[in-house]
Amino acid sequence: MDCATLSIRSRAAELAELLEINDLAVEFRTEDGTVYAVAGVSFQVRAGEMLAIVGESGSGKSVTALSVLGLLDRRSHVTGSIALDGEELTKASEQRMQAVRGGRIGMIFQDPMTALNPVMTIGAQLIEAIKLHEPKIARTTAIERCLGLLTSVGVANPEQRLRQYPHEFSGGMRQRAMIAMAIANDPDLIIADEPTTALDVTIQAQVLDQLRKAQRETGAAAILITHDLGVVAELADRVIVMYAGRIVETAGVRDLFAQPRHPYTMGLLASLPTLDSDLDRLHPIPGSPPDVSQRISACPFHPRCPMAIDRCRTEDPALTEVGGGHLAACFRTEELIGRTPEQVFVRTVVEAQEPDEPIPAAEVHR
Ligand SMILES: Nc1ncnc2c1ncn2[C@@H]1O[C@H](COP(=O)(O)OP(=O)(O)OP(=O)(O)O)[C@@H](O)[C@H]1O
Ligand code: SF4
Ligand SMILES: [Mg+2]
Repeated sequence: MDCATLSIRSRAAELAELLEINDLAVEFRTEDGTVYAVAGVSFQVRAGEMLAIVGESGSGKSVTALSVLGLLDRRSHVTGSIALDGEELTKASEQRMQAVRGGRIGMIFQDPMTALNPVMTIGAQLIEAIKLHEPKIARTTAIERCLGLLTSVGVANPEQRLRQYPHEFSGGMRQRAMIAMAIANDPDLIIADEPTTALDVTIQAQVLDQLRKAQRETGAAAILITHDLGVVAELADRVIVMYAGRIVETAGVRDLFAQPRHPYTMGLLASLPTLDSDLDRLHPIPGSPPDVSQRISACPFHPRCPMAIDRCRTEDPALTEVGGGHLAACFRTEELIGRTPEQVFVRTVVEAQEPDEPIPAAEVHR
């Protein structure tokens, strides 16, 4: 086979869809009624890419990730499809899901202490993770592999560290150990749910660098769930913005930042601090996300949206292609072209706070 064919093949493999989620809905049947946590979500993850999922608290990010991992509690009711390389995971047995978790999919959660066993050394836990998927591996080979893994995630003195317990590691170290565990079996996909939220800012950057490095080295795809749009801009290839259990916008990272096409994304970007920002320029989106214990049949963002019109209060906009793989769920998405987040969002906020400087109605309801 010549080089050109090889390179076309590897490019095709890179772009292949590894994870395909179609119309995923997750409801929790609780004593207080039904919670509509994820309401019809469809997206793909391509081999080798880093896909970020952003959105406010309660928007369904973790529930989406947990459904891929088959880790939802018994009160959950899942419909739709989750296919990993064509294998339907929503119908897989628990035994099969155990093989998928840690084997084909590596996981990194916000708090490593809940995932690490406090009474086992880091080395014993790494070896156990490797043996779960490679039971016949010789102990010396497994130890060699652990040393390599800890070194690759930036843990110094790995021989000594392998013999230590999780409480002897700092928070950043523990998260590195989690990354090592997540990549121990050369997974196809890494799911990292707020992996650095519990860490201080400088350590966050180091851990995220290690995550990116580990992902590149293993060639795995990654889903990175985060509140931090700065992290998204730096690390992600593509972004999904979730709101009230739905995807309201998705695009390549450059497209999304250059020209957001949903008012909620604009609101998130408008609330970002900038280097020259003073407090007057920080405008968190007023109001709070809707209650998902009721089915929503309107645009879920309408009570907070500065561009809402009557239609938005009675119809739920579908996620629609707006060009070049960029999708948005908004009836007025075309009107956002050429407008900045501050023009769409903050000016209206200013209008609400400073009635003596009203925005012309045409600006809001054009
Ligand atoms: N086990 C459960 N039982 C009942 N409701 C649940 C359960 N897990 C999640 N929910 C609800 O589902 C919705 C989505 O939760 P999810 O954890 O996915 O939010 P999130 O986007 O990850 O938020 P955060 O950024 O705070 O982590 C929330 O309303 C939450 O209260
Ligand atoms: S559909 Fe209407 S309420 Fe929803 S985001 Fe678009 S303009 Fe705002
Ligand atoms: Mg979460």
